[in-house]
Formats: sequence, structure tokens, C-alpha cells
Amino acid sequence: MCGIIGVTLDDGSVVPLLIEGLRRLEYRGYDSVGLAVLDGEKGLSIVKAAGDIDSFTRRFNLARLRGPVGIGHTRWATHGPPNDVNAHPHSDCTGSIVLVHNGVIRNYASLGEYLRRRGHRVKSETDTELVAHLIEEELSKGKSFIDALAGALSRLDGSYALAILYRGEPDRIYFAKMRSPLLLAVGDRGNAVASDITALLEVSRRIIPLEDGEFGYITPRSIAIYRLLPGGGHRQVPREEVEARVKHVEWTPEAASRGGYPHFMIKEIYEQPQAVMETYNGNIDDPRVAEAGLMIAGAGLTLIVAAGTSYHAGLVLSYHLARYGIPSIPVVASEFKQYKGIAGEDTVVVAVSQSGETYDTLEAVRSFKEQGARVVGVTNVLGSALDRESSLSLYTRAGPEIGVAATKTYLAQVTLLSILAVRAGQARGALGEGEARGTLEVLARAPDVTARAVSSGEPAARGHASRVEGSMYILGRGLGAHLALEAALKVKEIAYAHAEAYPAGESKHGPIALVEDGFPVYIVATGDSPEVTGNAVEMKARGARVTLVKPADLELDVPAGISVLNTPPVGGRSVLEPFSLIPFFQLLSYYAAVARGYNPDKPRNLAKTVTVE
Ligand code: M6R
Repeated sequence: MCGIIGVTLDDGSVVPLLIEGLRRLEYRGYDSVGLAVLDGEKGLSIVKAAGDIDSFTRRFNLARLRGPVGIGHTRWATHGPPNDVNAHPHSDCTGSIVLVHNGVIRNYASLGEYLRRRGHRVKSETDTELVAHLIEEELSKGKSFIDALAGALSRLDGSYALAILYRGEPDRIYFAKMRSPLLLAVGDRGNAVASDITALLEVSRRIIPLEDGEFGYITPRSIAIYRLLPGGGHRQVPREEVEARVKHVEWTPEAASRGGYPHFMIKEIYEQPQAVMETYNGNIDDPRVAEAGLMIAGAGLTLIVAAGTSYHAGLVLSYHLARYGIPSIPVVASEFKQYKGIAGEDTVVVAVSQSGETYDTLEAVRSFKEQGARVVGVTNVLGSALDRESSLSLYTRAGPEIGVAATKTYLAQVTLLSILAVRAGQARGALGEGEARGTLEVLARAPDVTARAVSSGEPAARGHASRVEGSMYILGRGLGAHLALEAALKVKEIAYAHAEAYPAGESKHGPIALVEDGFPVYIVATGDSPEVTGNAVEMKARGARVTLVKPADLELDVPAGISVLNTPPVGGRSVLEPFSLIPFFQLLSYYAAVARGYNPDKPRNLAKTVTVE
């Protein structure tokens, strides 16, 4: 889950672009940072260290580092702890081949043994360094660099996005992709390669998403992309040249910067009304959404596959589909094998992933596809693996999300999935034309409800932030139970407090044993489940400090001693409830993290896009 970048320019220095790109990639991992810069005359310089980018730029005088070609890396450690030696870039024995890597080389143990037997001196504990030695080994057979690279790639098992410098060809950066994201940017001053679109925006918005098995090189004025072909002998691995497929992305460099906010997370919470509006406007009349609705309505089985927050958005889809009489099974992506026995050609998989690169989700998608299922991909990233591998792609329009916590992409997903549920309900005949239009008109108010939820949630969350420590429950019933899961995930990952979400009714079957005087309990109250007040009383009776969070116009008979936190009114419409209720919990986790001195953009042990098994 590291981030890689490489830039090659006509003239000038790539270092500022590499540093800016790495800042944008830092969400992918922040254990260590490294750069390698190649200048035809001055040669190759490498700077790398454990720690994040801020400490890196403070520690080294990067101003002295100049050159028109360079690569960079920000690490989320897999093989070997985060230290200076394991930081990327890594090089071969001669120091001529220098590379950065995102992914995991599965056969690294046997490769390492082979290379050591061949006399290579391996300095780090990483799987990455072995790739440099493997290319060196192939080069020693008298091959050109591109053939040596192809030869090395054909021996790798696992996932990789690679950017490689070679002293012998100082104008270019070689690259290769297999099961880790990698894109090229085609610029006016030069070209670039990176793990993520946001890191490329300073170079160009003309992007080429690469496919698995593709490799090649960029120079400031040219791009060559090849695909490995099966077969061939030991000396020559066959390849074919691939045509470059340039896509224009609408994201701007400003959208990927903090823009005066102290953290990306709070900026992105505030961007939610916009994200919801853009997603609504972009999908409301999109025939692809209607087509996806038709697919779901006619499917023998609908599986909703996703991880983390995207899974929680998937639960909202499943909830709305059930209201329209359409059964579906929400599947935690990493648990997809449980459902292999029931999937087949009449299955529709709705795969939800903001990044479109989550390993677990992609593995599930690939497996269900092999069984004949059709896939509706819902992603925020054009050209992502999920986008490319889906039978039909639908797009949220949240703009780039950099903070590790999914916030604006969640409400954007809920927006799109709510439209999708209506389209499926229409196709199934459960909703008439008028009813469908009415529901979608109500949903058009979601940006406004979100804006009000953010502004009223701000002071409320600041006030509650001190309560977030140790353990707490977040309970709900019906739709509220699904929202509680998302609320608790935010608190756990950002504020490091043990927030457990439970269906409120189920809480008395065990969890209530933990409740004692002052134990914080939040109840997410939704219109479908007025009975949560009973669960609130049960908690209160055991000494819990209960706060019932509800839309202001939801009338509940709230017993004395239970605090009520009102969120914006929703006119009794469940389709608006996520927009009213969730921002308070996002803000709560943000302010609790800030109060405790944690960086909400870089929660410990996490990376935004989880591209490992
Ligand atoms: O990119 P994806 O939507 O597939 O990511 C899935 C999860 O890794 C992600 O939602 C994760 O749970 C977030 N950190 C939650 O805030």
C-alpha cells in the first residue's frame, strides 16, 4: 500500500514535483520516504529515511538535489520494519538500477535464495530490492534493459507497481504494473508515472490508466507501453506494443490540496454537500444507473460486495432494495468465498469501492466474474481497476479524497446507491413513475440536509469530543443500525477509541454487561424504529450516559435522563436520514482525534487504499 511516483522533464528539476506528488500519495503509507534523482552529468543521488514527508524535508537539504528525471516513494511496510535501510528506492549490486515498488512479491523467499546463490548482495529485508537484483541478473545475460525487465517480470509472482531508473539510459523511467494501481500522465513539459491520479495532477490531467501485465518507459517526449505475451524462450520474453489510451480527468490540483484547512479530513467533511450534489446531478438521469437497476431487478441473486465504509454504504443499498421488495446479500469483500456456492450466471454483483483498487473487493469481483456473474462497479476513480473490470461502471463524483477516513465518498456512495435502489424498484414494478420521481425529488434535498448537518454538527461534536475515550457503544435499529456501524468505524480509526456498533435490540443479549456508571452510549434513531427509546432506557437504567441522535422532526417519546441531539429534519423520509445523521459522528471522531493530539489524516497502522490481501 505504498505510493510511487516518477517524473521525467525536458529541463528543470523534478524534485519539487516529486515532493508534492509524495505528499498527495502519503495517505497510502507514511512509514518512510525516499527519492532518487538522475542527472545525465551529475549522476544518481538517493535520499531515503524512515518517517513521514515533513520529517524527511526537514532532515535533508533537498535544495541541493536537482535533476530532470527522478522517482519517489512513500512506504507502508510489508517486508521488514520501517527503517532507513528498508526505505525505498532500492538498488542492485552495481547501483545502476534503482527502483521503487508498491505491492507484494509473493515468491520473494525463493527469489532471494536464487539471487544470493548467484552472488548478489542483498542489503535490505524488503521484497522490492530483489527485483533490482533480478533485473541486474537478466542484464548480465547480455539483454537490452527492456528485455531484461521483461525477463525479470516474467519471474515475479505477486503484485507490483514499479518505477525504475537505469544509469545507462538516463532520460527515462521504466515502469511495470501487476495488480497494483499505476497510471501515466502525458504533460507538455514531460511525462510522469504514479500510483494515483492526484499525484500526477501537477504534471497533467491527461492520464493513461495502465492494465495488469503492462510495462514500458517514459521519456520527456515519448511513452512506450508493452504487454507481456505468454510463451517464449528463456532468453527472450515476447511482448507486443500497446496503444496509449489517454483519458482527460476533471480533478484539479487544488481539489487535492488542503486549501487552508488544518487537515484533509475536515476539508472533506465540509466538501460533502458539494460531493452529494455533484453525484446526484451526475447520476440522476444517467441511463447506466437505470440499466444497473434493470440488472438488479432481473437478477436471480444480488450480492453487494465492498470493504469498510464502502460496505456500510452497501448496507444502505441493501436496506432500500428490501423496502422495494428486492432481496440482496451484503458481502464483506474479504469473506466472498462464503458466497461462492450460491453465485452463478444469474448473479449481479454490485461492487462498491471509492478507490476502485481495494484488493479484497477486486478479488471478490474477479472470482464472482469467473462464476459468470455480471458486475456493476461503483467507484470514485475513473480508470481504476474496478472501473476497468466491471461490466457496467457507475461513478460517484466526490472529487479526490485524501484523508484516510472515508467521509465525502461515503455520502456520495449513499447518494448514488439510493438512486440505484429507486431505479431497481422501478424496474421491479415496486415503484410507480410518480413515486420514483417523488423519492428522487426528496433525495435532491440531500446536499442541503448535509450542509446543515455539518454546520450544526460542528459545535455539537466539539462539545462531545471529550466523552470519546476508552469504550463506547453506538446503537441503532433498522437503517440506524447500518449508520451506527459507519459512525463506530470513524471513531475507532480516527480517535482510537473502542466504539462498538450493535443493533440496539441485540445489545441486551450480551453487550449490555459492559455498561456501568457513565459508560457512553450513542443511539442513532431513525424513523423506522421508534422502539430504540426502549433500548435507551435499558442502557440508562444500568448507568450509561445515553445520547439519542435523531433528525429534529422525528418525534419520539424520549424518557427523562436521556440527552437528545437533534440533527437536521428529514420530513420523515428515510432516504435523507444518512445525510442528516452521519456528519455529527464524522466530526465527533475528527475533534476527538485532534483533542487527543492524533493526526486524523494519518491514523496509525492504516493506509487509505488497502491493496494487500
Ligand atoms: O477504496 P475503498 O472504498 O474500497 O476502501 C474500502 C475501505 O478500505 C475503506 O472504506 C476504509 O474502511 C476507510 N478507511 C474507512 O474510513
